[in-house]
Amino acid sequence: MSSSPVLRLAPSILSADFARLGEEVRAIEAAGCDLVHFDVMDNHYVPNLTIGPLVCEAIRPHVSIPIDVHLMVEPVDAIIPLFAKAGANIITFHPEASKHVDRSLSMIRELGCKAGLVLNPATPVSVLDHVMDKLDMILLMSVNPGFGGQKFIPSTLAKLRLVRAKIDAHVAAGGQPIWLEVDGGVKTDNIAEIVAAGADTCVAGSAVFGVPDAGGGYKGVMQALRRAAHPG
Ligand code: DX5
Ligand code: ZN
Repeated sequence: MSSSPVLRLAPSILSADFARLGEEVRAIEAAGCDLVHFDVMDNHYVPNLTIGPLVCEAIRPHVSIPIDVHLMVEPVDAIIPLFAKAGANIITFHPEASKHVDRSLSMIRELGCKAGLVLNPATPVSVLDHVMDKLDMILLMSVNPGFGGQKFIPSTLAKLRLVRAKIDAHVAAGGQPIWLEVDGGVKTDNIAEIVAAGADTCVAGSAVFGVPDAGGGYKGVMQALRRAAHPG
């Protein structure tokens, strides 16, 4: 198993206090996270409505770490340039939400961002086959998208192993590195098996923001996740 010792933590601000978002993102960066995971929902592709480019632009000056924009919107092409302009560093979308996946991926990179595809629990890994060279990140959903606080779907582990092998083969053949992110229900009690299955980047929403930051709460969660990820 060639899982990497690297572990990037990406708190999802979906579970943050939206009334104090600037303060919340500063707190997670200070607590030692690697990315800000930014969930965009349109009440069309998913049955929920969240935040858009204006909010991305508003938090941008509050953090120096990359902003990882997860688009749960359909279609995607019109909104991609707005997020690039708003300071997004990584933009991922669901292949079902774009009529021309290759074109949408190219557009993200042309705008200077890293590009990625998001696979729902029922989306087959074969959607990656002809676009591996256009990907900087692959995000596997371990819940159905739309809400924070759901339970991790265990079949994601086998899918992670499959995609890890695909990425390793791609890199061994001279391809560019691709990050493997997992999103949904990541906690201290399952992160070890998630990382062992090949993930190098973990989103955590309710696990991080479910504790108060007062007294170092976020830092405590971040440390606990890292410790739990690599036991022994
Ligand atoms: C779900 C979102 C996730 C979610 C993760 O559609 O994409 O990023 O907020 O939250 P937890 O960690 O609570 O499952
Ligand atoms: Zn997400």
